[in-house]
Amino acid sequence: MQISNPYSCELLRWYDRHHRDLPWRISPSAARDGHRADPYKVWLSEVMLQQTTVQAVKPYFAKFLSLWPKVEDLAAAPTDAVMAAWAGLGYYARARNLKKCAEAVARDHGGIFPDTEGGLKALPGIGDYTAAAVAAIAFNRQAAVMDGNVERVISRLFAIDAPLPGSKPLMKQKVADLTPADRPGDFAQAMMDLGATICTPKRPACALCPFNSRCLAFNNDEPEHFPVKTPKKTKPVRVGAAFVAVTPDGEILLRRRLESGLLGGMTEVPTTAWTARLDGGTTPDHAPFAGDWQACGQIIHVFTHFELRLSVYRLQHERVETEDGAWWEPVANLDAQALPSVMKKAILQAIPLAFSTSAN
Ligand code: ADE
Repeated sequence: MQISNPYSCELLRWYDRHHRDLPWRISPSAARDGHRADPYKVWLSEVMLQQTTVQAVKPYFAKFLSLWPKVEDLAAAPTDAVMAAWAGLGYYARARNLKKCAEAVARDHGGIFPDTEGGLKALPGIGDYTAAAVAAIAFNRQAAVMDGNVERVISRLFAIDAPLPGSKPLMKQKVADLTPADRPGDFAQAMMDLGATICTPKRPACALCPFNSRCLAFNNDEPEHFPVKTPKKTKPVRVGAAFVAVTPDGEILLRRRLESGLLGGMTEVPTTAWTARLDGGTTPDHAPFAGDWQACGQIIHVFTHFELRLSVYRLQHERVETEDGAWWEPVANLDAQALPSVMKKAILQAIPLAFSTSAN
């Protein structure tokens, strides 16, 4: 196994000067002095960063660390509080898995994360990507770390014409070949930074790239042609309705979604029974109780596998007895609820100033 290679040397020289300072990272000079990033912070950030940008993650990361500074604290936290702190980041199964993983680390490993890719992968909710990223970044293991940014860099560097996702194994092999034994964690983070700041999807800054003399896509004058992707199927559109009931005292009717399924266990305003496969009703006939429901327009939310169009209705009404699992909550407390983005959009459509912050 090579200690380093020309690609890794050039990239690491660039990273030493241009790395991003991120709250879950240690600097390359500290890493070279033998310091290690906190595995809890690395793991938490990697789970949060899946499908989400660094900018969006920063406030959530800060909130989680202030509420739960150690993995044992997260393990002991009420699931509802974790879901509420996660609300807005999306892909809520990740939050449930986060909690299960923290519990396993606290219970089965004395609060110490396993330090190998295999050991990490045995934990609940940790897949190939997260295991490789934590092994490399927190434990300096020679693991091949590939996310969307890295795919773009590799596909350009080697002008890989085979389309994604089929070309992933080939790309992963290339990443493994380039990952050096001496600084694998910094190499992984450098590839991510290069993809995020230089090798961007549109108008990449090739003149500043440490790989430009080797990059086949740049040398053929076509970096934006890569990565080649299999054309996406258009997403199915689903429809439904959401009902925002408010009392004269400023309380809103909320309920909890079933534990299983999309947005499982999250809080919502009553909606019709839309699912990833089925439409729900769109008229006030489906409201949780009868009344003069006023139409407030439609919101659109795009999930991974479908687009949801919810017709939103509003009603001002005295408190009524509600179905099991529903409750009246002061609108002033909405910020603290585990409301997914789609529900925040629906509530904002009916009550424009319902939330005190947009980032939650
Ligand atoms: N995206 C995913 N993981 C990341 C990391 N560790 N640093 C920067 N961006 C990332």
